[in-house]
Amino acid sequence: MKEISRRHFLATGGLLTGAVILAPTEGLYATVRASGLSEMSLSRGPILHFNKNGKFKIMQITDMHYILSRAEESNLGITDISNYMDIEEPDLIMMTGDVVYTNMDIRGLEAVLAPIISHGIPFAFTWGNHDGNDLVFRAKLQERVEQESLNEGYTARGIPGYSNFALPILSSIGNKEAAIIYGFDSNKDSSLPQIKGRGWITREQIKWYEQTSVYYTKKNEGVPLPSYSFFHIPLPEFKFAYEDMWTHRIGNRFENIETPLINSGLFLSMLEHKDMVGIFCGHDHDNDFIVNYDGIKLAYGQVTGRKTAYCHMPDGYGTRIIILDEGQREFNTYIRLSKGGTTLHVNTVEI
Ligand SMILES: [Fe+2]
Repeated sequence: MKEISRRHFLATGGLLTGAVILAPTEGLYATVRASGLSEMSLSRGPILHFNKNGKFKIMQITDMHYILSRAEESNLGITDISNYMDIEEPDLIMMTGDVVYTNMDIRGLEAVLAPIISHGIPFAFTWGNHDGNDLVFRAKLQERVEQESLNEGYTARGIPGYSNFALPILSSIGNKEAAIIYGFDSNKDSSLPQIKGRGWITREQIKWYEQTSVYYTKKNEGVPLPSYSFFHIPLPEFKFAYEDMWTHRIGNRFENIETPLINSGLFLSMLEHKDMVGIFCGHDHDNDFIVNYDGIKLAYGQVTGRKTAYCHMPDGYGTRIIILDEGQREFNTYIRLSKGGTTLHVNTVEI
């Protein structure tokens, strides 16, 4: 196996045209196989572990919509992020898109990164439909994030999108993978003229997920590891689940659930691979419900941006906190609010 520097990888990886698969992170490294011709290693952020009590806390930030020309308003959300981190002391920040608002200036992203870096908390970003007007700028956002030593989300090269990654969380004792966090780029808008509306997670991305999932299941002696996914635009199953009168849902739905207008099959694949426990999205600022659909918990985050991001929720802005239990396929979650306090506490055993 040939090891190359990350700088070299960034310079060459985006040009590869064959199937490039991010396989499986092992300790400090993610192995990338390019068309079967060579293997390369890619350094990543700090190793993630369940703590000695078997807990791992994720703070989901979503829809910051940082606008440079409205810095004063945008910075209200930045102050909130700092307060949330002070109170919650999460093990990982997961960003579910719309970090900026179509502005093509990397300083918007850097303003959001700054409080996270100053708190020293590992993070991973997935991108939303407002993150860059074009894919060139979206690639620059990802490249900028990957320059940070606390970044965990190095995207798989050679498949569509700029925030596709798999992060292992290791056991509290020893260094065995105990859970996997997936990030997906849910892309921007439809790429087909016949289909209107938002983009979707493509078949290439789903194939990458399947290969990664199979790898970890085999490594875990055939037992799928509890897995959690984060991305921006909700899957069609969010709508199916909400409209199903038999589901138990907790939280608010104050706007239409905007999903792609075609189903690319990721949810089915996740059911087939028997690993996914929860899926966490953003995008619809006025929705924050969680619902159990066929055994997978589907949840919105709480819109975190402030005056640059619309919000008509009764409790306003906030962040979703997710507390994983090692070896379990249920978790606890709640919303921490900008106005103070918490709400919508859920132990998923109850839904
Ligand atoms: Fe948004």
